[in-house]
Amino acid sequence: MEDDSTEFHDITNKTFLNKYHCISKIGKGTFGSVYKARYNKDYFALKFESKKKDHDLLEKEAKILDYLHGANIPYIESYFSTDEYNILVMELLGKSLGYYQKQLNILSLKTVCMIGDQVLSILEYIHDHHIVHRDIKPDNLCMGLNHSKYVYIVDFGLAKKYRSNATLMHYPLINKKRLTGTPRYASINALKGFEQSRRDDLESLGYVLMYFLRGELPWQHINAKSKEERNQKILQKKMEISSSKLCEGFPIEFEKFLDYTKNMEYTQTPDYDMLRNMLLNVMKNNNLIYNYIFDWTTKEEIKKRAEVEYSRKDGLIKKRYISNKSLFYSNLNRNNVNKNKFRNLNAYNNQHTNTNIYYSNDYLPIIKDKDLNNNDQVNAICSSACNIF
Ligand SMILES: Nc1ncnc2c1ncn2[C@@H]1O[C@H](COP(=O)(O)OP(=O)(O)O)[C@@H](O)[C@H]1O
Ligand SMILES: [Mg+2]
Repeated sequence: MEDDSTEFHDITNKTFLNKYHCISKIGKGTFGSVYKARYNKDYFALKFESKKKDHDLLEKEAKILDYLHGANIPYIESYFSTDEYNILVMELLGKSLGYYQKQLNILSLKTVCMIGDQVLSILEYIHDHHIVHRDIKPDNLCMGLNHSKYVYIVDFGLAKKYRSNATLMHYPLINKKRLTGTPRYASINALKGFEQSRRDDLESLGYVLMYFLRGELPWQHINAKSKEERNQKILQKKMEISSSKLCEGFPIEFEKFLDYTKNMEYTQTPDYDMLRNMLLNVMKNNNLIYNYIFDWTTKEEIKKRAEVEYSRKDGLIKKRYISNKSLFYSNLNRNNVNKNKFRNLNAYNNQHTNTNIYYSNDYLPIIKDKDLNNNDQVNAICSSACNIF
């Protein structure tokens, strides 16, 4: 896709809405730039879209983020426009996995399995909400802030509803002949121009995981005269190379993962548990411990995590919970406020205990009983959170 970020003036040190002071540029995407900004003592990520360009992806993205709020997706603080820009204000996250891949080139089996497991849970959440992301790639996966143990999915600029939320019927499988997404990680069907569904996000995740393990994919560095020709060559190469060839030298589960996603029907509900279990089995078979220590987690960071956890025991988390909640009550005026209490909680299904454990971003596991109804679950979370403090 075209990169129009050259159109952007540097807006470091500029203030918007008399509130958000831009400190530094943290990302450059397809349609604009992302800046780190400060308002009073809080930091945010501001995503800018130039109004000169003939597209309005950012407003659509803001609506989807607002609708999806929850799981490990950045929460939206506000959305507004100036004469020059549309601006989305959201939760500030840490570095992207694209950044870490560039630093390290190859990521370890353990890091890749922990990432895959987490991204599967976030995708399951997004898909349950009738949305497909359509651009799963390393740059659109970010770690949380403050030495976080959690991965987030960002960039919902290309996200779209894939089924009716009333009937749960998929929209027709049309072929529009044009790719939406990034050719390197796009599914074979997306490259062929087919309407995307849940299977395509999962196939892309398969390519992303293999990219991390191998440090490259065979369809990189392809020469072509035009974008169309390049996409066509990437498609050819992806169809030619079997999953067993692509995953040669790595645990068989990666090949099975890819084959499963490539053979899914358009409307098929993915077996997320099975895919997660494949990755957890790889860890088990290789004696790897799921301890959230990634390839980039330094000793210094482990020490800081411990300090953060220690200071949280002094009641800081409780304060954060309350302030987050009131922020949502006041800013978004939601109908279903109970849902907000789940915000920033990362669902993780534990096969062994048959309970869903919600890990808050503050590192504290909060156990939810499967049989409770929604209100009770919220209360259980709140009361167990209070018990911890
Ligand atoms: N909330 C955020 N916090 C921190 N960094 C972010 C955040 N959102 C995006 N980024 C960074 O900015 C980059 C570009 O943002 P993205 O939303 O992907 O824009 P684009 O649609 O132009 O690709 C991302 O690859 C990521 O590195
Ligand atoms: Mg992006």
